[in-house]
Amino acid sequence: EDAAPLRISVIGTGYLGATHAAAMAELGFDVIGVDMDPSKIAALERGEVPFFEPGLPSLISRHVATGKLSFTTDLKAAVQASDVHFICVGTPQHPSSHAADLRFVDTATRAVAASLGHDGLIVGKSTVPVGTAARLREIVSEAAPAAVHAELVWNPEFLREGMAVEDTLHPDRVVIGGASPWAEERLRRVYDAALASGVPLISCDLPTAELVKVSANAFLATKISFINAIAGLCEKADADVAVLADAIGYDPRIGRRFLNAGLGFGGGCLPKDIRALMHRAGELGAYSAVKLMQQVDEINMDQRQRVIDLTLRALGGSVLNARVAVLGAAFKPDTDDVRDSPALNVAAALHLRGAMVTVFDPAAGPTAGRLYPTLSYADDLESAVRSADIVLVLTEWDEFRNADPTRLGALVERRLVVDGRNCLPVETWRDAGWEYWGLGHTSGA
Ligand code: UGA
Repeated sequence: EDAAPLRISVIGTGYLGATHAAAMAELGFDVIGVDMDPSKIAALERGEVPFFEPGLPSLISRHVATGKLSFTTDLKAAVQASDVHFICVGTPQHPSSHAADLRFVDTATRAVAASLGHDGLIVGKSTVPVGTAARLREIVSEAAPAAVHAELVWNPEFLREGMAVEDTLHPDRVVIGGASPWAEERLRRVYDAALASGVPLISCDLPTAELVKVSANAFLATKISFINAIAGLCEKADADVAVLADAIGYDPRIGRRFLNAGLGFGGGCLPKDIRALMHRAGELGAYSAVKLMQQVDEINMDQRQRVIDLTLRALGGSVLNARVAVLGAAFKPDTDDVRDSPALNVAAALHLRGAMVTVFDPAAGPTAGRLYPTLSYADDLESAVRSADIVLVLTEWDEFRNADPTRLGALVERRLVVDGRNCLPVETWRDAGWEYWGLGHTSGA
Protein backbone atom coordinates (compact mmCIF):
# COMPACT_ATOMS: atom_id res chain seq x y z
CA GLU A 1 0.00 0.00 0.00
CA ASP A 2 1.34 3.41 -0.97
CA ALA A 3 1.39 6.13 1.63
CA ALA A 4 -0.34 8.77 -0.52
CA PRO A 5 -2.94 10.60 1.56
CA LEU A 6 -6.30 8.85 1.50
CA ARG A 7 -9.11 10.66 -0.22
CA ILE A 8 -12.57 10.26 1.21
CA SER A 9 -16.10 10.25 -0.17
CA VAL A 10 -19.13 10.45 2.10
CA ILE A 11 -22.43 9.21 0.66
CA GLY A 12 -25.43 10.94 2.22
CA THR A 13 -25.10 14.45 3.66
CA GLY A 14 -27.75 14.34 6.37
CA TYR A 15 -26.88 14.73 10.01
CA LEU A 16 -24.33 11.96 10.12
CA GLY A 17 -22.80 12.46 6.67
CA ALA A 18 -22.42 16.24 6.79
CA THR A 19 -20.76 16.05 10.20
CA HIS A 20 -18.50 13.16 9.22
CA ALA A 21 -17.44 14.87 5.98
CA ALA A 22 -16.60 18.13 7.76
CA ALA A 23 -14.71 16.34 10.54
CA MET A 24 -12.64 14.32 8.05
CA ALA A 25 -11.72 17.56 6.23
CA GLU A 26 -10.75 19.06 9.58
CA LEU A 27 -8.42 16.08 10.10
CA GLY A 28 -6.70 16.98 6.83
CA PHE A 29 -8.29 14.61 4.31
CA ASP A 30 -9.68 15.63 0.93
CA VAL A 31 -13.37 14.93 1.23
CA ILE A 32 -16.27 14.88 -1.21
CA GLY A 33 -19.81 14.77 0.18
CA VAL A 34 -22.42 13.21 -2.09
CA ASP A 35 -26.18 13.56 -1.96
CA MET A 36 -28.92 12.98 -4.49
CA ASP A 37 -30.70 16.17 -3.43
CA PRO A 38 -29.24 19.06 -5.49
CA SER A 39 -30.70 21.77 -3.24
CA LYS A 40 -28.99 20.21 -0.20
CA ILE A 41 -25.69 20.10 -2.08
CA ALA A 42 -26.02 23.72 -3.19
CA ALA A 43 -26.79 24.82 0.37
CA LEU A 44 -23.84 22.89 1.85
CA GLU A 45 -21.50 24.46 -0.69
CA ARG A 46 -22.60 27.83 0.69
CA GLY A 47 -21.90 26.56 4.20
CA GLU A 48 -25.61 26.33 5.02
CA VAL A 49 -26.62 23.37 7.14
CA PRO A 50 -30.31 22.40 7.04
CA PHE A 51 -30.34 21.59 10.78
CA PHE A 52 -29.09 23.21 13.97
CA GLU A 53 -25.69 21.90 14.99
CA PRO A 54 -23.24 24.12 16.90
CA GLY A 55 -19.93 24.55 15.08
CA LEU A 56 -20.88 22.64 11.96
CA PRO A 57 -21.73 25.50 9.56
CA SER A 58 -18.44 27.28 10.30
CA LEU A 59 -16.44 24.05 9.95
CA ILE A 60 -18.05 23.33 6.59
CA SER A 61 -17.56 26.90 5.29
CA ARG A 62 -13.95 26.85 6.40
CA HIS A 63 -13.10 23.64 4.57
CA VAL A 64 -15.12 24.48 1.47
CA ALA A 65 -12.90 27.58 1.40
CA THR A 66 -9.66 25.62 1.96
CA GLY A 67 -10.73 23.25 -0.83
CA LYS A 68 -10.51 20.20 1.46
CA LEU A 69 -14.26 19.73 1.32
CA SER A 70 -16.57 19.75 -1.69
CA PHE A 71 -20.09 18.54 -2.39
CA THR A 72 -21.65 16.96 -5.45
CA THR A 73 -24.62 15.00 -6.70
CA ASP A 74 -22.29 13.04 -9.00
CA LEU A 75 -21.69 9.88 -7.01
CA LYS A 76 -19.63 8.17 -9.69
CA ALA A 77 -17.18 11.06 -10.02
CA ALA A 78 -16.84 11.32 -6.24
CA VAL A 79 -16.16 7.59 -5.85
CA GLN A 80 -13.59 7.59 -8.64
CA ALA A 81 -11.78 10.51 -7.04
CA SER A 82 -11.46 8.83 -3.63
CA ASP A 83 -10.21 5.74 -1.83
CA VAL A 84 -12.45 5.29 1.20
CA HIS A 85 -16.23 5.62 0.84
CA PHE A 86 -18.42 6.16 3.88
CA ILE A 87 -22.08 5.15 3.61
CA CYS A 88 -23.99 7.67 5.77
CA VAL A 89 -27.52 7.48 4.34
CA GLY A 90 -30.63 7.25 6.50
CA THR A 91 -32.37 4.09 7.71
CA PRO A 92 -35.87 5.36 8.45
CA GLN A 93 -38.42 3.31 10.35
CA HIS A 94 -40.88 1.44 8.18
CA PRO A 95 -44.25 3.08 8.95
CA SER A 96 -46.11 -0.11 9.84
CA SER A 97 -43.66 -2.88 10.70
CA HIS A 98 -41.10 -0.86 12.77
CA ALA A 99 -38.37 -2.58 10.76
CA ALA A 100 -35.59 -0.39 9.42
CA ASP A 101 -36.11 0.63 5.81
CA LEU A 102 -32.87 -0.33 4.11
CA ARG A 103 -33.63 0.95 0.63
CA PHE A 104 -31.19 3.87 0.81
CA VAL A 105 -28.35 1.80 2.26
CA ASP A 106 -28.79 -0.87 -0.40
CA THR A 107 -28.95 1.61 -3.26
CA ALA A 108 -26.01 3.68 -2.05
CA THR A 109 -23.81 0.62 -1.50
CA ARG A 110 -24.63 -0.79 -4.91
CA ALA A 111 -23.97 2.56 -6.59
CA VAL A 112 -20.60 2.99 -4.86
CA ALA A 113 -19.49 -0.54 -5.73
CA ALA A 114 -20.55 -0.15 -9.36
CA SER A 115 -18.71 3.19 -9.64
CA LEU A 116 -15.33 1.97 -8.36
CA GLY A 117 -12.52 2.77 -10.79
CA HIS A 118 -9.73 1.51 -8.51
CA ASP A 119 -9.44 -0.40 -5.24
CA GLY A 120 -11.97 0.86 -2.75
CA LEU A 121 -12.89 0.46 0.89
CA ILE A 122 -16.62 0.87 1.51
CA VAL A 123 -17.36 1.74 5.12
CA GLY A 124 -20.89 1.44 6.47
CA LYS A 125 -21.75 3.99 9.17
CA SER A 126 -25.54 4.02 9.11
CA THR A 127 -27.37 2.26 11.94
CA VAL A 128 -28.63 -1.04 10.51
CA PRO A 129 -30.23 -4.26 11.76
CA VAL A 130 -27.73 -7.01 12.44
CA GLY A 131 -27.12 -9.07 9.32
CA THR A 132 -27.38 -6.15 6.91
CA ALA A 133 -23.64 -5.78 6.34
CA ALA A 134 -23.24 -9.44 5.32
CA ARG A 135 -26.01 -8.93 2.77
CA LEU A 136 -24.40 -5.70 1.53
CA ARG A 137 -21.18 -7.62 0.97
CA GLU A 138 -23.01 -9.74 -1.58
CA ILE A 139 -24.27 -6.58 -3.27
CA VAL A 140 -20.70 -5.27 -3.40
CA SER A 141 -19.29 -8.43 -4.94
CA GLU A 142 -22.11 -8.46 -7.53
CA ALA A 143 -21.80 -4.80 -8.45
CA ALA A 144 -18.07 -4.04 -8.24
CA PRO A 145 -16.03 -4.31 -11.45
CA ALA A 146 -14.04 -7.55 -11.50
CA ALA A 147 -10.70 -5.76 -11.92
CA VAL A 148 -10.82 -3.80 -8.65
CA HIS A 149 -10.46 -4.89 -5.05
CA ALA A 150 -13.60 -3.85 -3.19
CA GLU A 151 -14.18 -4.46 0.47
CA LEU A 152 -17.02 -3.56 2.82
CA VAL A 153 -16.56 -3.07 6.56
CA TRP A 154 -18.80 -1.71 9.32
CA ASN A 155 -17.79 1.27 11.43
CA PRO A 156 -20.70 2.55 13.55
CA GLU A 157 -21.01 6.16 14.68
CA PHE A 158 -22.00 7.26 18.18
CA LEU A 159 -22.41 11.02 17.80
CA ARG A 160 -25.01 12.95 19.75
CA GLU A 161 -27.00 15.78 18.23
CA GLY A 162 -25.80 19.10 19.55
CA MET A 163 -22.35 17.56 20.17
CA ALA A 164 -21.90 16.05 16.72
CA VAL A 165 -18.65 17.78 15.72
CA GLU A 166 -16.98 17.20 19.07
CA ASP A 167 -18.12 13.54 19.20
CA THR A 168 -16.86 12.87 15.67
CA LEU A 169 -13.47 14.48 16.25
CA HIS A 170 -13.06 12.90 19.68
CA PRO A 171 -14.85 9.55 19.75
CA ASP A 172 -14.94 7.35 22.88
CA ARG A 173 -14.01 4.32 20.77
CA VAL A 174 -13.56 3.27 17.17
CA VAL A 175 -15.38 0.06 16.22
CA ILE A 176 -14.43 -1.70 13.00
CA GLY A 177 -16.30 -4.80 11.91
CA GLY A 178 -15.22 -7.35 9.34
CA ALA A 179 -11.95 -5.73 8.26
CA SER A 180 -9.16 -7.61 6.48
CA PRO A 181 -5.61 -6.49 7.37
CA TRP A 182 -5.74 -4.25 4.24
CA ALA A 183 -9.00 -2.61 5.34
CA GLU A 184 -7.91 -2.22 8.93
CA GLU A 185 -4.70 -0.52 7.87
CA ARG A 186 -6.68 1.97 5.76
CA LEU A 187 -9.13 2.73 8.52
CA ARG A 188 -6.33 3.10 11.05
CA ARG A 189 -4.96 5.83 8.79
CA VAL A 190 -8.37 7.53 8.69
CA TYR A 191 -8.67 7.47 12.49
CA ASP A 192 -4.99 8.00 13.17
CA ALA A 193 -5.45 11.21 15.20
CA ALA A 194 -7.95 9.62 17.59
CA LEU A 195 -6.04 6.35 17.90
CA ALA A 196 -2.79 8.19 18.57
CA SER A 197 -4.46 9.99 21.48
CA GLY A 198 -5.33 6.63 23.06
CA VAL A 199 -8.90 6.06 21.85
CA PRO A 200 -9.50 2.28 21.89
CA LEU A 201 -9.98 0.44 18.62
CA ILE A 202 -12.30 -2.54 18.70
CA SER A 203 -11.78 -4.74 15.69
CA CYS A 204 -14.51 -7.36 15.49
CA ASP A 205 -16.75 -9.27 13.10
CA LEU A 206 -19.53 -7.63 11.09
CA PRO A 207 -22.54 -8.65 13.22
CA THR A 208 -20.82 -7.56 16.45
CA ALA A 209 -20.05 -4.13 14.98
CA GLU A 210 -23.65 -3.70 13.84
CA LEU A 211 -24.96 -4.78 17.24
CA VAL A 212 -22.58 -2.59 19.25
CA LYS A 213 -24.33 0.46 17.84
CA VAL A 214 -27.92 -0.62 18.52
CA SER A 215 -27.02 -2.06 21.91
CA ALA A 216 -25.43 1.21 23.02
CA ASN A 217 -28.62 3.09 22.19
CA ALA A 218 -30.79 0.33 23.68
CA PHE A 219 -28.82 0.55 26.92
CA LEU A 220 -29.19 4.32 27.10
CA ALA A 221 -32.93 3.98 26.48
CA THR A 222 -33.13 1.31 29.19
CA LYS A 223 -31.40 3.59 31.69
CA ILE A 224 -33.97 6.31 31.02
CA SER A 225 -36.96 3.98 31.29
CA PHE A 226 -35.47 2.42 34.42
CA ILE A 227 -35.26 5.76 36.20
CA ASN A 228 -38.73 6.71 34.97
CA ALA A 229 -40.15 3.49 36.40
CA ILE A 230 -38.41 4.27 39.70
CA ALA A 231 -39.77 7.83 39.49
CA GLY A 232 -43.28 6.38 39.52
CA LEU A 233 -42.38 4.40 42.63
CA CYS A 234 -40.87 7.51 44.27
CA GLU A 235 -44.12 9.38 43.76
CA LYS A 236 -46.12 6.65 45.49
CA ALA A 237 -43.61 6.44 48.34
CA ASP A 238 -43.02 10.20 48.79
CA ALA A 239 -39.37 9.79 47.80
CA ASP A 240 -37.32 12.05 45.52
CA VAL A 241 -36.00 10.47 42.32
CA ALA A 242 -33.39 13.15 41.61
CA VAL A 243 -31.70 12.63 44.98
CA LEU A 244 -31.97 8.88 44.49
CA ALA A 245 -30.34 9.11 41.04
CA ASP A 246 -27.45 11.13 42.48
CA ALA A 247 -26.99 8.58 45.24
CA ILE A 248 -27.03 5.46 43.05
CA GLY A 249 -25.03 7.26 40.37
CA TYR A 250 -21.97 7.53 42.61
CA ASP A 251 -21.51 3.80 42.12
CA PRO A 252 -19.28 3.75 39.04
CA ARG A 253 -20.97 0.53 37.91
CA ILE A 254 -24.19 2.57 37.61
CA GLY A 255 -23.08 6.12 36.78
CA ARG A 256 -25.22 9.24 37.07
CA ARG A 257 -25.57 10.07 33.38
CA PHE A 258 -28.83 9.26 31.57
CA LEU A 259 -30.64 8.91 34.87
CA ASN A 260 -32.71 12.08 34.55
CA ALA A 261 -36.34 11.17 35.10
CA GLY A 262 -39.01 13.05 33.17
CA LEU A 263 -40.88 13.03 29.92
CA GLY A 264 -38.62 10.36 28.46
CA PHE A 265 -36.61 9.95 25.31
CA GLY A 266 -37.44 11.01 21.78
CA GLY A 267 -35.53 12.09 18.70
CA GLY A 268 -34.47 10.42 15.51
CA CYS A 269 -32.43 7.63 17.10
CA LEU A 270 -33.35 6.06 20.44
CA PRO A 271 -37.06 5.36 19.74
CA LYS A 272 -36.41 4.17 16.19
CA ASP A 273 -33.42 2.05 17.17
CA ILE A 274 -35.12 0.19 20.01
CA ARG A 275 -38.09 -0.59 17.77
CA ALA A 276 -35.84 -1.81 14.98
CA LEU A 277 -33.94 -3.92 17.52
CA MET A 278 -37.23 -5.36 18.79
CA HIS A 279 -38.23 -6.24 15.25
CA ARG A 280 -34.91 -7.83 14.33
CA ALA A 281 -34.61 -9.70 17.63
CA GLY A 282 -38.09 -11.11 16.99
CA GLU A 283 -37.10 -12.30 13.53
CA LEU A 284 -34.06 -14.03 15.01
CA GLY A 285 -36.03 -15.56 17.90
CA ALA A 286 -34.20 -13.62 20.66
CA TYR A 287 -37.33 -13.09 22.74
CA SER A 288 -35.74 -11.72 25.93
CA ALA A 289 -34.42 -8.78 23.94
CA VAL A 290 -37.87 -8.28 22.40
CA LYS A 291 -39.56 -8.28 25.82
CA LEU A 292 -37.05 -5.93 27.41
CA MET A 293 -37.26 -3.41 24.57
CA GLN A 294 -41.07 -3.59 24.56
CA GLN A 295 -41.09 -2.61 28.23
CA VAL A 296 -38.54 0.16 27.69
CA ASP A 297 -40.65 1.58 24.86
CA GLU A 298 -43.91 1.25 26.79
CA ILE A 299 -42.58 2.91 29.94
CA ASN A 300 -41.18 5.70 27.78
CA MET A 301 -44.48 6.35 26.01
CA ASP A 302 -46.38 6.18 29.34
CA GLN A 303 -44.39 9.17 30.58
CA ARG A 304 -46.08 11.35 27.96
CA GLN A 305 -49.48 10.24 29.22
CA ARG A 306 -48.40 10.88 32.81
CA VAL A 307 -47.57 14.50 31.99
CA ILE A 308 -50.94 14.88 30.27
CA ASP A 309 -52.67 13.39 33.35
CA LEU A 310 -50.68 15.65 35.66
CA THR A 311 -51.77 18.68 33.64
CA LEU A 312 -55.39 17.58 33.82
CA ARG A 313 -55.15 17.06 37.59
CA ALA A 314 -53.45 20.40 38.13
CA LEU A 315 -56.28 22.11 36.24
CA GLY A 316 -58.96 20.25 38.20
CA GLY A 317 -59.87 17.59 35.63
CA SER A 318 -60.24 19.37 32.30
CA VAL A 319 -58.07 21.33 29.90
CA LEU A 320 -60.99 22.49 27.77
CA ASN A 321 -60.38 26.15 26.87
CA ALA A 322 -57.49 26.37 29.31
CA ARG A 323 -54.57 28.51 28.10
CA VAL A 324 -51.60 26.16 28.21
CA ALA A 325 -48.06 27.50 27.68
CA VAL A 326 -45.76 24.74 26.46
CA LEU A 327 -42.09 25.58 26.94
CA GLY A 328 -40.00 23.39 24.67
CA ALA A 329 -40.65 21.65 21.37
CA ALA A 330 -37.29 20.04 20.55
CA PHE A 331 -36.74 16.44 21.70
CA LYS A 332 -33.88 17.70 23.87
CA PRO A 333 -32.19 21.08 24.48
CA ASP A 334 -29.66 22.65 22.10
CA THR A 335 -31.21 21.25 18.94
CA ASP A 336 -34.05 22.22 16.61
CA ASP A 337 -34.88 18.56 16.00
CA VAL A 338 -38.52 17.69 16.68
CA ARG A 339 -38.51 14.11 15.42
CA ASP A 340 -40.53 12.01 17.87
CA SER A 341 -40.46 14.89 20.31
CA PRO A 342 -42.17 14.07 23.61
CA ALA A 343 -42.82 17.79 24.17
CA LEU A 344 -44.71 18.27 20.92
CA ASN A 345 -46.54 15.02 21.40
CA VAL A 346 -47.91 16.28 24.74
CA ALA A 347 -48.69 19.72 23.27
CA ALA A 348 -50.65 18.14 20.40
CA ALA A 349 -52.56 15.80 22.76
CA LEU A 350 -53.63 18.73 24.96
CA HIS A 351 -54.66 20.70 21.89
CA LEU A 352 -56.85 17.78 20.79
CA ARG A 353 -58.53 17.84 24.21
CA GLY A 354 -59.56 21.43 23.66
CA ALA A 355 -56.76 23.35 25.35
CA MET A 356 -55.51 26.61 23.82
CA VAL A 357 -51.86 25.65 23.48
CA THR A 358 -49.05 28.14 22.84
CA VAL A 359 -45.61 26.63 22.24
CA PHE A 360 -42.28 28.37 22.62
CA ASP A 361 -38.88 26.87 21.86
CA PRO A 362 -35.60 28.83 21.59
CA ALA A 363 -34.62 26.99 18.38
CA ALA A 364 -37.26 24.51 17.24
CA GLY A 365 -40.23 26.84 16.61
CA PRO A 366 -39.95 26.71 12.80
CA THR A 367 -39.38 22.93 12.58
CA ALA A 368 -42.21 22.33 15.05
CA GLY A 369 -44.50 24.63 13.07
CA ARG A 370 -43.97 22.59 9.95
CA LEU A 371 -44.81 19.34 11.72
CA TYR A 372 -47.73 20.62 13.83
CA PRO A 373 -49.12 23.64 11.98
CA THR A 374 -52.33 23.70 14.02
CA LEU A 375 -50.58 24.64 17.27
CA SER A 376 -49.86 28.31 18.10
CA TYR A 377 -46.28 29.42 18.48
CA ALA A 378 -44.85 32.32 20.44
CA ASP A 379 -41.67 34.20 19.54
CA ASP A 380 -40.40 34.46 23.07
CA LEU A 381 -40.87 33.13 26.57
CA GLU A 382 -42.86 36.15 27.82
CA SER A 383 -45.45 36.03 25.07
CA ALA A 384 -45.81 32.26 25.52
CA VAL A 385 -46.71 32.50 29.19
CA ARG A 386 -48.75 35.73 29.08
CA SER A 387 -52.23 35.04 30.52
CA ALA A 388 -51.53 31.30 30.73
CA ASP A 389 -53.61 29.17 33.08
CA ILE A 390 -50.76 26.66 33.30
CA VAL A 391 -47.11 26.50 32.22
CA LEU A 392 -45.56 23.19 31.10
CA VAL A 393 -41.77 22.87 30.90
CA LEU A 394 -41.22 20.00 28.46
CA THR A 395 -37.64 20.52 27.16
CA GLU A 396 -34.93 21.52 29.63
CA TRP A 397 -33.42 24.50 27.80
CA ASP A 398 -31.20 26.69 30.02
CA GLU A 399 -33.50 29.61 29.21
CA PHE A 400 -36.31 27.79 31.06
CA ARG A 401 -34.21 26.37 33.90
CA ASN A 402 -32.87 29.83 34.66
CA ALA A 403 -36.11 31.75 34.10
CA ASP A 404 -37.14 34.04 36.93
CA PRO A 405 -40.39 32.64 38.39
CA THR A 406 -41.31 36.00 39.92
CA ARG A 407 -41.10 37.80 36.59
CA LEU A 408 -43.07 35.03 34.84
CA GLY A 409 -45.53 34.90 37.73
CA ALA A 410 -46.50 38.52 37.03
CA LEU A 411 -47.49 37.60 33.45
CA VAL A 412 -49.61 34.48 33.93
CA GLU A 413 -53.26 34.12 34.85
CA ARG A 414 -52.53 31.31 37.33
CA ARG A 415 -49.19 30.33 38.85
CA LEU A 416 -49.38 26.64 37.96
CA VAL A 417 -46.33 24.88 36.59
CA VAL A 418 -45.77 21.29 35.42
CA ASP A 419 -42.07 20.44 35.32
CA GLY A 420 -41.93 17.61 32.78
CA ARG A 421 -38.13 17.43 32.89
CA ASN A 422 -37.37 17.73 36.58
CA CYS A 423 -35.30 20.74 35.70
CA LEU A 424 -36.67 23.66 37.73
CA PRO A 425 -35.47 24.71 41.19
CA VAL A 426 -38.64 23.68 43.03
CA GLU A 427 -38.19 25.82 46.12
CA THR A 428 -37.48 28.98 44.13
CA TRP A 429 -40.67 28.49 42.15
CA ARG A 430 -42.73 27.70 45.27
CA ASP A 431 -41.30 30.76 47.02
CA ALA A 432 -42.44 32.85 44.06
CA GLY A 433 -45.97 31.62 44.66
CA TRP A 434 -46.18 28.85 42.09
CA GLU A 435 -48.02 25.58 42.56
CA TYR A 436 -45.42 23.07 41.32
CA TRP A 437 -46.27 19.72 39.75
CA GLY A 438 -43.42 17.37 38.92
CA LEU A 439 -42.50 13.78 38.20
CA GLY A 440 -40.69 11.50 40.59
CA HIS A 441 -41.22 13.44 43.77
CA THR A 442 -44.07 14.84 45.83
CA SER A 443 -46.14 17.03 43.57
CA GLY A 444 -48.64 19.80 44.00
CA ALA A 445 -48.79 22.60 46.52
C1 UGA B 1 -28.37 9.21 20.77
C2 UGA B 1 -27.15 8.62 21.49
O1 UGA B 1 -26.94 9.30 22.72
C3 UGA B 1 -25.90 8.74 20.62
O2 UGA B 1 -24.80 8.13 21.25
C4 UGA B 1 -26.18 8.07 19.29
O3 UGA B 1 -25.07 8.13 18.40
C5 UGA B 1 -27.36 8.75 18.61
O4 UGA B 1 -28.51 8.62 19.46
C6 UGA B 1 -27.61 8.09 17.29
O5 UGA B 1 -27.95 6.89 17.27
O6 UGA B 1 -27.37 8.70 16.25
P1 UGA B 1 -29.32 11.72 20.47
O7 UGA B 1 -30.51 11.08 19.82
O8 UGA B 1 -28.67 12.88 19.81
O9 UGA B 1 -28.14 10.63 20.63
O10 UGA B 1 -29.81 12.20 21.88
P2 UGA B 1 -29.51 11.85 23.40
O11 UGA B 1 -28.66 12.91 23.97
O12 UGA B 1 -29.09 10.45 23.55
O13 UGA B 1 -30.97 12.02 24.01
C7 UGA B 1 -32.03 11.13 23.64
C8 UGA B 1 -33.31 11.42 24.42
O14 UGA B 1 -33.18 10.93 25.76
C9 UGA B 1 -33.71 12.89 24.54
O15 UGA B 1 -35.10 12.99 24.24
C10 UGA B 1 -33.43 13.22 25.99
O16 UGA B 1 -34.29 14.22 26.47
C11 UGA B 1 -33.69 11.90 26.66
N1 UGA B 1 -33.01 11.73 27.95
C12 UGA B 1 -31.65 11.70 28.01
C13 UGA B 1 -33.75 11.59 29.11
O17 UGA B 1 -35.00 11.61 29.10
N2 UGA B 1 -33.09 11.43 30.30
C14 UGA B 1 -31.75 11.38 30.38
O18 UGA B 1 -31.21 11.22 31.50
C15 UGA B 1 -31.01 11.54 29.21
